[in-house]
Amino acid sequence: MNRGRTAVIVGAQWGDEGKGKIVDVLTQTFSVVARYAGGHNAGHTVIINGKKFILQLVPGGILRPGCISVIGNGVVLDPLAFLKEVASLRDAGVQIDGNLFISNRAQVILPYHRMMELGAENAPGRVKIGTTSRGIGPAYEDKMGRRGLRVADLLDTALLRTHIENACREKNMIGHALFNSDPLDADKMFKEYSDAAQKIAPFVCDTALLLNQAIAEGKSVVFEGAQGTMLDIDHGTYPFVTSSSATSGGAVTGTGVPPTSIDTVIGITKAYCTRVGGGPFPSELLDEQGEDLRKRGNEFGAVTGRPRRTGWLDLPLLRYAGMINGISWLVVTKLDVLDHLTEIPVCVGYKIDGKATAEVPAQACGYEKIECLYRKMPGWATPTQDVRTLEGLPKPAREYLTFIEKETGARVGMISTGPDREQTILVPEFVSQLGLKEIKSPAARA
Ligand code: GDP
Ligand code: IMO
Ligand code: MG
Repeated sequence: MNRGRTAVIVGAQWGDEGKGKIVDVLTQTFSVVARYAGGHNAGHTVIINGKKFILQLVPGGILRPGCISVIGNGVVLDPLAFLKEVASLRDAGVQIDGNLFISNRAQVILPYHRMMELGAENAPGRVKIGTTSRGIGPAYEDKMGRRGLRVADLLDTALLRTHIENACREKNMIGHALFNSDPLDADKMFKEYSDAAQKIAPFVCDTALLLNQAIAEGKSVVFEGAQGTMLDIDHGTYPFVTSSSATSGGAVTGTGVPPTSIDTVIGITKAYCTRVGGGPFPSELLDEQGEDLRKRGNEFGAVTGRPRRTGWLDLPLLRYAGMINGISWLVVTKLDVLDHLTEIPVCVGYKIDGKATAEVPAQACGYEKIECLYRKMPGWATPTQDVRTLEGLPKPAREYLTFIEKETGARVGMISTGPDREQTILVPEFVSQLGLKEIKSPAARA
């Protein structure tokens, strides 16, 4: 039997590119969705026939009956947030049992992680990242410090008690000394988390084994990224990043599937740029044009509600994302947000100290020296929300996409012109090259 096809979905910017929607479209044909990094800092919006779901920890496959969803070992799991999300999905009539699995090697977020993050974010002399305050960074710190609690340990009651007692003693001392934090009660925590462990137990298994077997049996797998390339711990705008490997390499370490089993990397990019939280953003618009993009694109965080910063498409960063992730196909989302414009500036290059450069700075302060070089592309000033084929798009919109292809060396395989599952254009070569014969654009299905 041939092994199943696999594709990594990766954010090519600073997150919120529309990964949730695209994963949902792909589950028309993929059998398994595996989340590989991050935690409930993510907010992935999926709109199906007008009904909105915001997924944080649960992979997008859950919304497609029969599709298997896996939370991989690279994820940091807050058990209480997970149970809350599952309860609200159940309330919405989503079938969970038998379709959702959690890695026994995923790390657990505990209340002291949030305590440490809150303290660090507000401490004098520390860089304020503008995090989602979910305890993500401190949980990954404990993982790398080899003092984390994994899901398998959460289910081991005796080990859980000892771990919580020791960790609370240590974290309470550090929290008090550094940030004057109020101490956490270990007994109360143990009770709450041992209860949660019982509810989580039915979902837990060796997901690396599950995924490798599924691929060997010919099942197709999408690896669902969270955050984006420029938020990656190594390759992003450090220190204004998240604490995980959001780039495509994370799909391998974050699930236990070998690199040789990855067929394709699909980068998701908005037709412009956004970022939420602090840190460099070379093509940011701080004027009324930025405000206009924010309003038209409804650029407010899916989970935190924070306004997203907005700017023009940044091709040097997209080329960088292409190199780091090995992106062969791009999906361009939110094209409709540019529908009203008669011309669209695009950042085509960087100058640093007056010299053109193809390099992306390693230091946050390096970005301050960047001068963006813009090219004005003709706008189309026509609605695109109901278009379902490439040919149906206005000519300047097609030229905008062709320009992105020429400048990045990647092909555009899908275009999103609205938040709904149906508002999607699939490029026939993408469908055939991915071997997704049965996937159809909504119009083609009618
Ligand atoms: P993710 O984190 O990458 O899954 O993206 P988010 O869900 O956080 O943010 C993307 C936002 O854009 C959500 O509100 C989506 O409903 C919305 N969206 C996705 N694709 C499109 C599109 O093509 N057009 C418009 N107007 N909105 C879109
Ligand atoms: P999805 O998967 C956009 C940002 C935060 C902050 C930085 C670090 O929906 O694209 P953290 O809480 O992770 O320590 O915060 O990263 N951030 C995101 N921005 N989309 C996300 O996820 C994000 N997850 C984290 O705003 O700047
Ligand atoms: Mg999001």
